[in-house]
Amino acid sequence: MILLICAIGLITYVVLYYQNVRKYPPGPFPLPLIGNLYHLKAEGLHEYIHKIGPAYGHCLTLFLPRPIVFLTNYDNVYEALVTKGDNFAGRSQLPPDIYLQRNLQTGVTIADGDKWRTQRRISVKILRELGMGKNGMEAKINQMLDELMHMLKETNNGVTSFDICKPLQQFAGNTINEVLFGYHFKFSEPAKFEFFLERACEHLRNIKYNVFAFIVQAWPWAKSLPIIGRKGYTEPTENMSLFNGYVEEEVDQIVKTYDRHHEPSNFVEAYLSEMEKNAELDIINLCAIVVDIWFAGAETTGRTLRWCPLILMQNPAAQEKMRAELISVVGKDRRLEMADKPNLPYFNAAMAELQRTANLLPFILIHRCTADTTIGGKPIPKDTLTRHQIFSVMRDDEIFKNPIEFKPERFMGEDGKVNKILLDRVVPFGMGKRQCMGEGLARMELFLVLGNLLLNYRFEQTESFDSINNVLRDPGPYKCRIVPIYRSCNNNEIINSQ
Ligand code: HEM
Repeated sequence: MILLICAIGLITYVVLYYQNVRKYPPGPFPLPLIGNLYHLKAEGLHEYIHKIGPAYGHCLTLFLPRPIVFLTNYDNVYEALVTKGDNFAGRSQLPPDIYLQRNLQTGVTIADGDKWRTQRRISVKILRELGMGKNGMEAKINQMLDELMHMLKETNNGVTSFDICKPLQQFAGNTINEVLFGYHFKFSEPAKFEFFLERACEHLRNIKYNVFAFIVQAWPWAKSLPIIGRKGYTEPTENMSLFNGYVEEEVDQIVKTYDRHHEPSNFVEAYLSEMEKNAELDIINLCAIVVDIWFAGAETTGRTLRWCPLILMQNPAAQEKMRAELISVVGKDRRLEMADKPNLPYFNAAMAELQRTANLLPFILIHRCTADTTIGGKPIPKDTLTRHQIFSVMRDDEIFKNPIEFKPERFMGEDGKVNKILLDRVVPFGMGKRQCMGEGLARMELFLVLGNLLLNYRFEQTESFDSINNVLRDPGPYKCRIVPIYRSCNNNEIINSQ
């Protein structure tokens, strides 16, 4: 009798499970309870989805074990994030994404609804007022850049292989730290910076590849189980707690010294000033936004910068062509400025191609569909989690012929101008309502750092790059020869003089 009841229970569960599966866009066959986990590896998941995407019309579901809909081409991602953007602006409100913050619905990245809208609007306003994408920010970036160049001049002899990865990473972290708190870490004392960077990288690993965290995502009660709970909940939250504690201390220092009669000179001061006028702003949200900006802004920019020399060393002709154009526009006696941008079509095309081939973020952060809707004609039920695979959008061989190849020329029209339509398909900063909040800052950093480095140094390969982990899209660590190109001027810190 008991056996019969168990059998009926089991059959009912299986029938209901597959009835539920039918509500979602079809994908590889899932099994009850474990979904698709039986045939997937977390590492390289984006490569697998890229491969199977076309067979499912670029809109498919994987059960991990919670159902997640993956969109893998430009049209579907555009339809979701832009055309139907309001329906896809939600976040999961589930582990492991929520481990980023101490409190739910705070800050920008993991919040959604009206709370997200308020904090995002104010953060964008503050970044704009601090000069994001304008002169004020250019001066700040140049200050960090001068220190990077000075450090290179002091420690790189142009012959021995040099580790450029760490300085580039620290440059990006320093720029964010300056924007947020108005101070930065010294190149000679990297320990504190490296500690916080490691917290950030650990969190990234947890949201992408921690299978235990996915189990807690599907069944939150699993966080009380011994191994699953420790690996999927306790360790990731402890990691973030260290970082949150650092941010709270830094914010507290500024609160103590903040003088409301002075013009704010960093993000924290500017938010404190806005708090006096707006009751929806508070210290908890301020700390959460600072965490968001540090996380979203430091490692993304640092990683992109690390990909650039790596790709250019393997494409020396393109490296030379970029340098020749830079020298022809900038000349020999000054640094590259943002004002030079319109006069550098090849360099601009190469920057887009670098971001396309680096293809840093296989998926953007998870979104949640907030209303029943359709994408590419397929139904997506309310509250489904969605992943928008910009990796596939930028590797689409129907749009980018031979997409693995680094070829800035693909963006150049016959008239010598940049092909805008193709350029719009390069979407490293995402699209729509959740599009990157720091895009202006990041683009400025990439342009100034790479341009000024190429004006002053040639990157030469000294070791095999076979071990670079393309699956994790992590360009490092690697070493290379950084050969100074002597320009004849001496009136600028950034330019090497003989
Ligand atoms: C090369 C560097 C960068 C890349 C490739 C990048 C890319 C992205 C992407 C793809 C998203 C996700 C969009 C989505 O979920 O749909 C995002 C979100 C975000 N980015 Fe960036 N980002 C970069 C630099 C920065 C910088 C410098 C900042 C700092 C101001 C920043 C702040 C943010 C924030 C706060 C979000 C969350 C926005 C929201 O959820 O509303 N990012 N970024």
